[in-house]
Amino acid sequence: MNPNRRTALTTLARAAAAGAAAAGALPAVAQTAAPGEPFKIGLVLPMTGPFASTGRQIEAAARLYIAQNGDTVAGRKVQLIVKDDAGVADTTRRLSQELVVNEKVAVLAGFGLTPLALATAPIATQGKTPMVVMAAATSIITEQSPYIVRTGFTLPQVTLGIAEWAAKNKIRKVVTLVSDYGPGIDAENTFKQRFTLNGGQIAAELRVPLRNPDFAPFLQRVRDAQPDAMFAFVPSGVGSALMKQFSERGLDKAGIRLIATGDVVDDDILNDMGDVAVGVVSSHHYSAAHPSPANKRFVDAFMKANNGMRPNFMAVGGYDGMRVIYEAAKTSKGAGGEALLNAMKGQIFESPRGQVLIDAQTRDIVQDVYIRKVERVDGKLWNVEFDKMAAVKDPGKTK
Ligand code: PHB
Repeated sequence: MNPNRRTALTTLARAAAAGAAAAGALPAVAQTAAPGEPFKIGLVLPMTGPFASTGRQIEAAARLYIAQNGDTVAGRKVQLIVKDDAGVADTTRRLSQELVVNEKVAVLAGFGLTPLALATAPIATQGKTPMVVMAAATSIITEQSPYIVRTGFTLPQVTLGIAEWAAKNKIRKVVTLVSDYGPGIDAENTFKQRFTLNGGQIAAELRVPLRNPDFAPFLQRVRDAQPDAMFAFVPSGVGSALMKQFSERGLDKAGIRLIATGDVVDDDILNDMGDVAVGVVSSHHYSAAHPSPANKRFVDAFMKANNGMRPNFMAVGGYDGMRVIYEAAKTSKGAGGEALLNAMKGQIFESPRGQVLIDAQTRDIVQDVYIRKVERVDGKLWNVEFDKMAAVKDPGKTK
């Protein structure tokens, strides 16, 4: 096994074990609510703090889904309980425990960052409560509890596309720059593996702290290495700062291309990035510019309901997560626990991103991954899709 991956796994396993210890005394809960009782969905998200944009996008998408599909399911009134964890793992775990024990939610959902999902996995297992991970994207998350189902994406899944594209497009030498935690390390490993397999060379692998990152010293090292391109992953919301410093430090003028996962050119902030973003090629599972009638309907309705805010990939993970929950509740006739979980597995449907499948074995999402380029269309910046890899499974699971 790659030593980097081993370090990441150890760190993540420790976080998960801490969660298990804290969840030790969780009592078993009744899994079938009496008819007439509400169907409660506990949505735990960072609504404040540095990752608040993720919470804002997912809550808006969940509310849109309910507005479009009604607030009753299987004869029960849907009650969405939104809790703010401010992006702090201990808080996510405590709030989730309260939702399971006191509120007796049928399902936990949300989870804006990997450490927050890992901290909560033991609560889902012990409370026998399905946990729909709408945002957090480190490969191993779904392996931390048999009750976890993912409706967002994984970093290995979306990184393959840009690694292949780079190797085929005269990019020979790359420096990788990622946020130093689970998804960043997944992105770094996947990029390196696929790019070098196709003859590319990695000149340096840089890891930037997740909290309050100062990109300047790292970008200087990229410049000094004189690669053809820098491959980057930073979580949703952080891309603007990286992009700004990339241009301020003159990396673009030094002829270094920026390539990335779609997290960096997130639709929530893309339009405010300015010309420095134009031409950036990335790979991801969702672009607000995805040219399908279903996506056009979704983007129009989302923007109308949210003062013109453009939905990003987090919103789509939330919207599809609600779809998975609603359809499962119909199948389970409103029952929770195992019956609800089983009805989530194997769902196939058309998402605003395209056709998706919840793999019944892995409980992870299988989806198309698109190669996109930032272009100015009618005065606004969009990730315009120009190629795709069809039905990509998380390759992290097969390592
Ligand atoms: C994560 O913490 O798993 C995460 C957060 C934001 C992203 C991607 C991954 O854009």
